[in-house]
Amino acid sequence: MSNADNQGRKGAETTGHVWDGDLQEYNNPVPMWWTWAFYGTIIFALVYWLLYPAWPVGKGFTTGTFNDITFVNKKGEEVTTHWNTRALFLKDQQTGEQAVKQREYLDKISQSSYQEIMQDPDKMAFVNSMAKVLFADNCGPCHGKGANGVVGLYPNLRDDDWLWGGTIEEVERTIKHGRNGYMPSFAGVFPKEKLESVAAYVLSLSGIVGEDKAKIEEGKHIFQGEEGGCYYCHTDKGTGLKSQGAANLADKVWTIANVPAAATYEEKLAAVEKVIVEGVNREMPAWQGRLPEEQLKLLTVYIHQLGGGK
Ligand code: HEC
Ligand code: HEC
Repeated sequence: MSNADNQGRKGAETTGHVWDGDLQEYNNPVPMWWTWAFYGTIIFALVYWLLYPAWPVGKGFTTGTFNDITFVNKKGEEVTTHWNTRALFLKDQQTGEQAVKQREYLDKISQSSYQEIMQDPDKMAFVNSMAKVLFADNCGPCHGKGANGVVGLYPNLRDDDWLWGGTIEEVERTIKHGRNGYMPSFAGVFPKEKLESVAAYVLSLSGIVGEDKAKIEEGKHIFQGEEGGCYYCHTDKGTGLKSQGAANLADKVWTIANVPAAATYEEKLAAVEKVIVEGVNREMPAWQGRLPEEQLKLLTVYIHQLGGGK
């Protein structure tokens, strides 16, 4: 088929080239809008390169112009930098709607007494949501995210059983200044039978009683007398002394001796004996100076009411 006038089938324009005798190519230019869109992207790219960080240059990169971001860094200094997502994020944390709201609440908390905070459901809702995050970040590694603690290592903060007291003032004192739970080791102080007797007495305080009742009587004398001197910290009745952080031994709550996990009476005895022989020395770190005052306040209220709020 000849194609002298560059007309293909149905009269459409062709490029005029012919291959293999009859293979032709239509001349279909792209639509105008497409061409302009294409030039548009090139112009967009040029403007973008000018405004935003774009090209590597040596060890650095082109930072763009007319797009400075100013924010306050951790040290409280005002910093101005070229546009970048990190600076944008930091600025948003300080001036974003959320951040401003949070700041307002924190100011309210700083200015309120503990009583005022606890009586205001709106403030308490804020305390709970923010302190939960603070707790998970700072305290969770030891006490567990849910504050359930680990028997033998870190006390459970969800129960209403407090080594150092559960009033708001006591909890504040614990968190700000830390605590050192200390009980001396009684290794080598008692012969085996006497050790067993004291442990039997301790268990009996929580209603766990073995067959040999005489042992409990003997243990009581050691506990309450000079031989053991346990009463000195735990009191005569074994109910503990909050000023010493000495556990209440008569409340069925165990923070060091894992009595609940022991299956038999003998194993429970062994768990208590272990604490008596090894003693206890564990530390709750002080947080004053490590966290801002207002955050300590949030945590104090949070912990206080987690444990039932004495
Ligand atoms: C390094 C581990 C560790 C971290 C982190 C830690 N604690 Fe403790 N905390 C302890 C230990 C250990 C004790 C028990 C001290 C004792 O035996 O008397 C304790 C005790 C406590 C008590 C006293 C409980 C009672 O029964 O009286 C409170 C309240 C408490 N922690 C709150 C916190 C808060 C709030 C944080 C975070 C700001 C925190 N802890 C972070 C280890 C830790
Ligand atoms: C110097 C004070 C002191 C003396 C004396 C003392 N304790 Fe303690 N005891 C403590 C403290 C403090 C704790 C809690 C430590 C902690 O939880 O951080 C404790 C914890 C315990 C526990 C673990 C309780 C639990 O909940 O797991 C047992 C059991 C115990 N003492 C028994 C005794 C017996 C028996 C004697 C005497 C032979 C004795 N203690 C003497 C201070 C003392």
